[in-house]
Amino acid sequence: MHIRILFLFLGILIFESSCKAQEIRVYKEPIFANDWSKPSIHPDRIILNPGQNPSSEMNVTWRTTTEIEVAYAEIAPATAAPKFWRNAQTYTAKTENLNAKEVPMAEVEANYHSVEFKNLQPGQLYGYRVGDGEHWSEWFQFKTASADPKERFSFLYVGDAQNYILELWARLIREGYRKAPDADFIIHAGDLINYAHREQEWHEWFTAGGFIHSMLPSLSVPGNHEYNYLNNSNREAGRALSIQWKPQFTFPINGPEGLEETAYFIDYPDVKFIFLDSNRDHEKQAAWLRNILKENKKKWTIVSYHHPLFSASSGRDNEALRAIWKPIFDEFKVDLALQGHDHSYARGRVSLGENVLNGTNLRDLTGTVYVVSVSGGKMYGLNPNAWEGTEAVRDRAAENTQLFQLISIENNSLKFESYTAVGELYDAFELAKNEDGSNTFLELKTDLGPEYRFENTIPYEDQLPSEIESKILKKYSGYEIRRVIFKEVEGQTRIELRIQKGEIQKILLLDSKGKVLSEN
Ligand SMILES: [Fe+2]
Repeated sequence: MHIRILFLFLGILIFESSCKAQEIRVYKEPIFANDWSKPSIHPDRIILNPGQNPSSEMNVTWRTTTEIEVAYAEIAPATAAPKFWRNAQTYTAKTENLNAKEVPMAEVEANYHSVEFKNLQPGQLYGYRVGDGEHWSEWFQFKTASADPKERFSFLYVGDAQNYILELWARLIREGYRKAPDADFIIHAGDLINYAHREQEWHEWFTAGGFIHSMLPSLSVPGNHEYNYLNNSNREAGRALSIQWKPQFTFPINGPEGLEETAYFIDYPDVKFIFLDSNRDHEKQAAWLRNILKENKKKWTIVSYHHPLFSASSGRDNEALRAIWKPIFDEFKVDLALQGHDHSYARGRVSLGENVLNGTNLRDLTGTVYVVSVSGGKMYGLNPNAWEGTEAVRDRAAENTQLFQLISIENNSLKFESYTAVGELYDAFELAKNEDGSNTFLELKTDLGPEYRFENTIPYEDQLPSEIESKILKKYSGYEIRRVIFKEVEGQTRIELRIQKGEIQKILLLDSKGKVLSEN
């Protein structure tokens, strides 16, 4: 055999074996005992959130049982000498009771304690701990933002964690922290969990992040999954923000009235970060956003919210939202929009015009760059037409890939990198700020290899072995296979098969050899 053909053949074999599941494998999801997520007298879910001015303000929030009615935080500049606490200052926490015993899926009562550290020194490493005076957490460390507008800093950004949070988001957030342990903070662009009020899922989210939440400050916006009915039998009140959201986070209260802790901003020396709640009050937030941006003198402006203005996946266009917010982004030259919701990856931009033969090459300049990303384990297909017919061009995309993003800003340069859950660089670009406030766009994805799709990655859905597939399609002629689910029933491996012919749908239960055991 010709050597090149042999290599090609070997390549195909390796590709096939890495993408194709070879056997029927039933995946066992973890079950969490009822008391797993319950609070104790020891502080847990300790999370940092930046204050409005991250050079001098940092907030910490934690949880205990209701027995703990008075709580404290201690903070001191961190040094290598272990008794750095001699210089500590003690803050008394604000304590808030959350009684959600009657809320389905929450069924918990807890006290949440929060402290806003003020008058911190810029660019300073601090140690802090929280407790009730007897039961204390370990000492955690964080660094305040520099006051120097030219100094480099970086942050992480992730899309929806939402599903299989402890199972699969844990590795992603931990890989992100390993890649960028010196990042200043992390942005969570909504749908942190799946069912807004469910204690177990919040506990998964806090457990997956572990000490990262206590050391790398979080900035989060609510997604649609952070809103749900408090009581399913009384839906008239509408969907409510996750009952844990406000007690468990301490975001700056500087947003529009009625959207406290879901729309807000923070100020880096030369970067404005604005967080919006895309679930509601779009017009009200537009007016607020316009006011903020009118006064904004900072070099860079970055916005984050959940529902993308340019959607990555089919049938998920947010036209109304785009019509309200995009003109403001355009007018005030928002540099970057960090979004979630679509369970796939898409990065692209609005151009300022077409290329011209003479003069400035307008395609090299760019309007707002839009990114949709996903960090958790739930995956949707990409819109096959990319962003055709919209004002934006999609430049890089992915399906079936868990990603985190690392963004670093140094004076006139903003560098954006997207990494997969195993740490491979998947996407990159750079923005260079010009004198007139416009951005020159530098594409850096060029050497990063082909895009991921469902077809060239390990299957997301269970795949019916081909011999069983042909047997079934022969028996049920004219039917199409809609869904395959491997499951265990009374200790036996079974295949649940959803098949369809026109309007007729059937659910079959097969044994592992493909014999039909039941038909509905
Ligand atoms: Fe969503």
